[in-house]
Amino acid sequence: MANVIVIGAQWGDEGKGKITDLLSRSADIVVRYQGGNNAGHTVVVGDRTFKLHLIPSGILYPKTECIIASGTVIDPQVLLEEVDRLTELGVSTANLFIAQTAHVTMPYHRVLDRAAEDQRAEHKIGTTGRGIGPTYADKSERTGIRMIDLMDQARMPKKLRWAIEQKNIILEKLYNLEPLDADAIIAEYQGYAERLRPHVIDASLKIDEAIRERRNILFEGAQGTLLDLDHGTYPYVTSSNPVAGGACIGAGVGPTCIDRVIGVAKAYTTRVGEGPFPTELHDAIGAQIGDRGAEFGTTTGRKRRCGWFDGVIGRYAVRINGLDCLAVTKLDVLDDLAEIKVCTAYELDGKVVRDFPSDARAFARAVPIYETLSGWQRSTSECKTVEDLPSEAKTYLKFLSDLMEIPIAIISLGASRGQTIIVEDPIHGPKRGLLRS
Ligand code: GDP
Ligand code: IMO
Ligand code: MG
Repeated sequence: MANVIVIGAQWGDEGKGKITDLLSRSADIVVRYQGGNNAGHTVVVGDRTFKLHLIPSGILYPKTECIIASGTVIDPQVLLEEVDRLTELGVSTANLFIAQTAHVTMPYHRVLDRAAEDQRAEHKIGTTGRGIGPTYADKSERTGIRMIDLMDQARMPKKLRWAIEQKNIILEKLYNLEPLDADAIIAEYQGYAERLRPHVIDASLKIDEAIRERRNILFEGAQGTLLDLDHGTYPYVTSSNPVAGGACIGAGVGPTCIDRVIGVAKAYTTRVGEGPFPTELHDAIGAQIGDRGAEFGTTTGRKRRCGWFDGVIGRYAVRINGLDCLAVTKLDVLDDLAEIKVCTAYELDGKVVRDFPSDARAFARAVPIYETLSGWQRSTSECKTVEDLPSEAKTYLKFLSDLMEIPIAIISLGASRGQTIIVEDPIHGPKRGLLRS
């Protein structure tokens, strides 16, 4: 039995979907614990590509139970579209469960998200516009509507009408926008409630039962460490806690239940939206990485900013999440490069800094210090074992592992399940502190 958390070690889109799908083979339950449909997780199985926003990436295994836990925010319209799309593709969602305490994203959240972004003008965050921030804001303000409220046909219309009336004041007075039609929204959400009702449960209780039965649980993070509300590059972050600690809060389990934490990092770095990004490349190499890596957002289609691997944020991710080991993805994207740089430290105000500056303004001034390694200029996408990899690729991976002081358990060389090298069993194998030489 092992309970494992999979998190993004950078700014999201690290390939968590692929790695979660891969590890779901030996999981009984996969739990999404935070975020909403700002996430876009891609899973490629044979010639089929699945893009998941709210449903855990374990859904493609018929016996695996999938839980959208309390720490998430759920847009029912998007969730039901996802259910319908999976059904069309022959994937059953009978094993999908939704926490009754999860908060519901409403149409006014989406409108407010976009209106706030417009008003921020040049200071915008570059949100996905999916209403995530406003949904979590209502949760913190204790005025949110939860799944359990949506299920209550008697009280829901009154509660929702009150919320819409409040939001309409803001829409009209602050943003000069049209008010929303409460009756139409109430009717729409009553329809969603009936479709979702069979899936809604006490998720924390179900997870606890599974823990007692010693079943294997995989906790799937969305977004990434540097997008964490508390520990990321605030204010250019999302409104939840993607870090490993967020799994306990979001799923409603104690930290003593967790056996292992796996970080997922690209062999380079990307970021979508605004905010500082020290190793960002504005040149032809950045464009080449973006083209080869097909670096366009799964949710919004926006071009992702690309740059070299940043060891400072890598080490930070190890610290903040207590990572045991790493899955390095998209190594194949670097195949053509003659030279590859890795940021090992920053120069900040004339000093060499090896630790992530938690002062956002200092982070924005950080200038990367690079080590240059030789590229391999050979295709790696067909490599099946570490021995098959070009020696320069092995040196590159060893460099990353030494820099971050954790073992690399998985190497991903393509989007498909088969394009993966399992270096060591990520669940029962390497543990933090056992640095491989
Ligand atoms: P997530 O949000 O962390 O799940 O990542 P996304 O799915 O948003 O973005 C990762 C993208 O890279 C997806 O299109 C994956 O299919 C793709 N991908 C994952 N691993 C690899 C890999 O090792 N090589 C290549 N070339 N693509 C990969
Ligand atoms: P996955 O799970 C990459 C980014 C947005 C924006 C910031 C805040 O696929 O890795 P939000 O809509 O959450 O208020 O936007 O966070 N962002 C992501 N970037 N991958 C994601 O999810 C993201 N989810 C949010 O681009 O910069
Ligand atoms: Mg993504």
